Amino acid sequence: MKIADTEIRHGLFLAPLAGVSDRPFRHLARRYGAEYTTSEMVSAKALCYEQNSKRPVTDARVRTAPLAAVMRNEAPMAVQLFGAEPAFMARAAQLLESGAYRGACGEIPPAAIDVNMGCPMAKIVGNGEGAALMKDPALAAEIVRAMSRAVRLPVTVKIRAGWDEQSINAVEMAKRLEDAGAGMICVHGRTRKQMYAPSADWEIIRRVKEAVSIPVVGNGDIFCAADALRMQKETGCDGVMIARGAQGNPWIFAEIRSAMEGLPYTPPTLRERLEVALEHAAMIVAEKGERVGIAESRKHMAWYLHGVRGAAAARGELMKCESLGQIRAIFADLEAQK
Ligand SMILES: Cc1cc2nc3c(=O)[nH]c(=O)nc-3n(C[C@H](O)[C@H](O)[C@H](O)COP(=O)(O)O)c2cc1C
Repeated sequence: MKIADTEIRHGLFLAPLAGVSDRPFRHLARRYGAEYTTSEMVSAKALCYEQNSKRPVTDARVRTAPLAAVMRNEAPMAVQLFGAEPAFMARAAQLLESGAYRGACGEIPPAAIDVNMGCPMAKIVGNGEGAALMKDPALAAEIVRAMSRAVRLPVTVKIRAGWDEQSINAVEMAKRLEDAGAGMICVHGRTRKQMYAPSADWEIIRRVKEAVSIPVVGNGDIFCAADALRMQKETGCDGVMIARGAQGNPWIFAEIRSAMEGLPYTPPTLRERLEVALEHAAMIVAEKGERVGIAESRKHMAWYLHGVRGAAAARGELMKCESLGQIRAIFADLEAQK
């Protein structure tokens, strides 16, 4: 499949994950087979307001622009914006396309600007943003139209099945967004009310795919290669987007790619897993400093141990660790027990 000029051969997308899919995570996903990544969601309004701030760009409170930076080793990558006001969304998209904004620190421009129409968090939907836009297809379309007119980059959208079970409207939304200029739609097969459970409804992805002619990417509950192949088969989607299934398991993309090509797949050994986990923590620390970096690394380290027999005690230790050295020691103990 293609999004404008960007070819995505196997249709393997890393999902946006606020607080998780930061630069180190995206880099590792890309290294192990993701063909396209997306930033954590970025507030369009905050990016615009930050331009008027008097603070020096090195000030720790200038937080938004760095979230939108794109490095070569994670590209092609979309930057995802959230917001409900067409003018702010269009202005933020222009800033991202130009690369000429306060705090810009990326190496290359984004491959696309994605719009978040799926975030279920109360503080977001309370402002009419994220999944709240599923309740207002006219405004959703106005946002995409304003952005598409403002930039040459493709504008893509991530939607849910609907707001709640009484208002499943992904098909209507997708048609209106296509009309408004969207270059790709990703469908998370759940309503806002369902948040992240029960299991995603893939039938709605199939219906969207049937209804529009732009590429459709399916999302929800892909945790292994078999899930990805089944989603493709059942929905006809052009690509698959993986979120939680990539946590602690960037290799999921290589696994899916092997299955798509009919090739055997050898999962990483425990040693490889622990080495990459430690490398991941080191990258986070290099970006964010030791105190914040180690705190943020803990959840990732625990995810890397998912399914490792006898890892419960190590996970407990990881939650208390304060340095890379301690993580290394915990992993060495774990390996020694095997
Ligand atoms: C911790 C977390 C953060 C998320 N952040 C975002 C986000 O910033 N933007 C977005 O569009 N979706 C976000 N999502 C939703 C995921 O991208 C994805 O749609 C959802 O988890 C379903 O996919 P999965 O079953 O593969 O996890 C987030 C989900 C989780 C669990």
